[in-house]
Amino acid sequence: MASPNKVTLSALAARKRAGEKFAVLTCYDFPTAQIMFEAGVDVLLVGDTVAEVVLGYPQTRSVSMDFMIEVAAAVRRGAPDGFVIGDMPYASGYHESPAAGVAAARRFIDEAGCDIVKVEMNRGQLPVLEALCRAGIPVMPHIGLRPQRLAESGGYKAQAKDADSALALMEEARLMEENGASMLLLEAVAAEVSAEICSRTKLPVIGCVAGPACDGTVVVLHDMLGWGGGHPPRSVKRYAEIRAVLASAFAAYAADVRAGRFPAPENSIRMAKGQYEALRARLDAASAAEEGGNTTGRGNK
Ligand code: KIV
Repeated sequence: MASPNKVTLSALAARKRAGEKFAVLTCYDFPTAQIMFEAGVDVLLVGDTVAEVVLGYPQTRSVSMDFMIEVAAAVRRGAPDGFVIGDMPYASGYHESPAAGVAAARRFIDEAGCDIVKVEMNRGQLPVLEALCRAGIPVMPHIGLRPQRLAESGGYKAQAKDADSALALMEEARLMEENGASMLLLEAVAAEVSAEICSRTKLPVIGCVAGPACDGTVVVLHDMLGWGGGHPPRSVKRYAEIRAVLASAFAAYAADVRAGRFPAPENSIRMAKGQYEALRARLDAASAAEEGGNTTGRGNK
């Protein structure tokens, strides 16, 4: 039976209607998911940015579908009542065929326990959206800047900065809603345009560098923690300097090991009472027997 505390799509839609904002973070492992949920971040995006910030690839396209499923399942185990978003990686093949998209999205829902899949889309991918919706899979189109398609946007560039491109994006958002989307994600979109989109749709809208009008806001975990890696937006707000914290812990550990301060007796396992004496006695008996054998045996030619 579903937990009464489970964050659902309808709960997020209700938050939008009530004008309540919600916080979203990217998440890539079990303990972080636990901490996030307990801290009140109840929407967790298992983003393909894992390719950059965790695996060290220069771009998001490199992560495999199997890896995304493992990570999403770990996040779900960490936040059983959270709203978990599975990000369809390029390797899922959704852009090649709607059928491949449906097969991959089913894995996010059935194997990893995600609530919804996020798919980088423009209007050219409407057949994928339709196929996913026909299969009963909730979909969050990711529009605006699409990091899997950087060549089309000329790199990490802000979107909808002029009236023409703003109107095109607004029309794209409308088409996504009309064709069955359950939520929307806007990336790197001018704040005025995000506000127009948010006010025209009933769907909960998550913004990533998309201004304050969005219903939810997401940032990449490593960017907000100062952990490094990936492509942090210039405007990102840092809530910690984790890289510095980790570096000083690692340096202190290495210094302790080199100086013999760690492990100390209190960090060690001891044998059961009396057992070391028993061990010594047996070792001594064995070496005495060996010495005795040497005088009458091999050593006595
Ligand atoms: O993959 C990801 O983490 C994302 C966010 C940048 C929105 O798509």
